[in-house]
Amino acid sequence: MKLFLDTANLDEIRDIKRWGVLGGVTTNPTLLAKEGRDIDLQMKEVCTEVDGPVSLETTHRDADGIYEQGIQLAAVAPNAVVKVAMTPEGLQAGKRLVDDGIKINVTLTFSPAQAILAAEIGAYIVSPFLGRIDDVGSDGMHVLRRICEIYERQGYETLVLAASLRHPMHVVDAALAGAHIATMPHDVFMKLVKHPLTDIGLDKFLADWESLKEQLGKEGA
Ligand code: E4P
Repeated sequence: MKLFLDTANLDEIRDIKRWGVLGGVTTNPTLLAKEGRDIDLQMKEVCTEVDGPVSLETTHRDADGIYEQGIQLAAVAPNAVVKVAMTPEGLQAGKRLVDDGIKINVTLTFSPAQAILAAEIGAYIVSPFLGRIDDVGSDGMHVLRRICEIYERQGYETLVLAASLRHPMHVVDAALAGAHIATMPHDVFMKLVKHPLTDIGLDKFLADWESLKEQLGKEGA
């Protein structure tokens, strides 16, 4: 399972990139709005910084508007993937983009039924939003498992991207469910790496190493 960062922030991208685990980035209008910079410039810089797919979202409701913006977003960089919303218009525009050879990510997907539609138009990625399903008292992980099972049985090639992940167990369970990609905010990446026993163990190893050096230094003196 590839690990993507859900952000439009360059510092966050550079930080996780240094770990050697960054497979790609997902952005959305909310994340770009948080940066408050020129949108085109920000999108271009994010794409340049990332060695992997970067999802850039369309912001129209009508099919023609989504399609035309999709063409522009695809031209931002060779690694750009165009996000279209899971609506009839999004599917219509998405199919046209796919037919033009453009990679699309069908976003705002909340059910297995919707995920079947994304696969049928030949989407590169489908993004079920797990955390938001949990937020309304339903089971996001159950939805993800069903999507992965259907895709496996049907031989769909669309990649399943577990989105709206809020904590490390979302990531672990998404991997167990068979998701191809998990996208998460920077703080979830930090929580993935952190374990109190790692910190305690490292402190002890380094302290013992220092006292050994001190002891050997005294013996040599
Ligand atoms: C994915 O592409 C979305 O940008 C994202 O995962 C949404 O997450 P949220 O529900 O935390 O806003």
